[in-house]
Amino acid sequence: PVIYVVTPTHARPHQRAELTRLSQTLLLVPDLHWILVEDSAARTTLVADLLAQSKLPYTHLNTLTPPAMKLKDSDPNWLKPRGVEQRNEALRWLRENRSPTDHGVVYFADDDNTYSVKIFEEMRNTQKVSVWPVGLVGGLRYEGPLVTGGKVVGFHTAWKTHRPFPIDMAGFAVSLALLLNHPKAQFDPNAERGFLESSLLGPLVAVGELEPKADNCTKIWVWHTRTEKPKLKQEDLLEKQGKGSDPKILV
Ligand code: UGA
Ligand code: MN
Repeated sequence: PVIYVVTPTHARPHQRAELTRLSQTLLLVPDLHWILVEDSAARTTLVADLLAQSKLPYTHLNTLTPPAMKLKDSDPNWLKPRGVEQRNEALRWLRENRSPTDHGVVYFADDDNTYSVKIFEEMRNTQKVSVWPVGLVGGLRYEGPLVTGGKVVGFHTAWKTHRPFPIDMAGFAVSLALLLNHPKAQFDPNAERGFLESSLLGPLVAVGELEPKADNCTKIWVWHTRTEKPKLKQEDLLEKQGKGSDPKILV
């Protein structure tokens, strides 16, 4: 099966750094197709060039998050869901361009997390929905499914424990056939904070059907890392004097 990696991405000073790191991780994974979806009104040359040079099989899409749903610079990062319209755009593309008989697995990989190559081989043989723990998320060292006798019987979580699927976006993969056989399944842009993952998974699978990976969910092979916002105060000061960094140099 091909692994379709769906990545929402948005413009910011460190976007090229994030996408470089992620693309070079993905290069280590065979039979992979990267669906990169920009949160923008048009596809940018920055991303187009990065993809063209990446040597990865890819699809480049874009869709703008409606202004009313968009996080402002001054908002705390959790105020609104992020990457929702972009992941749904990728689902639309898959439904238009692939068929349920194609063997595939879909993984929603944000551009800032840290991925071991091991997690991709774990998810490759997903029948319906496979799951594993994610490091450094939910206010814990890790959050993840609890497994007894090869079945998921609950979750190790401390935040909004009543979530139907208390799993970070990075902690599950879905078979392409399952998504294509449920043409309406998608992420709910109006989902309560923390309920985004559940809004997709709820109609697709029951907890007891989840397929535990990573040694019965005892290994951490993906981390919910977040990148510090670069400080560009000096840049702003120099720009006012007409001495800013060379705009022709792509960062
Ligand atoms: C956590 C989860 O790990 C995300 O998968 C989930 O979408 C998010 O919470 C949520 O509740 O919406 P977090 O690290 O806080 O993620 O979110 P970000 O990494 O800032 O954003 C997730 C993805 O959306 C990234 O790939 C980012 O580039 C993209 N994004 C972010 C956009 O496309 N547009 C934006 O305005 C912001
Ligand atoms: Mn993130």
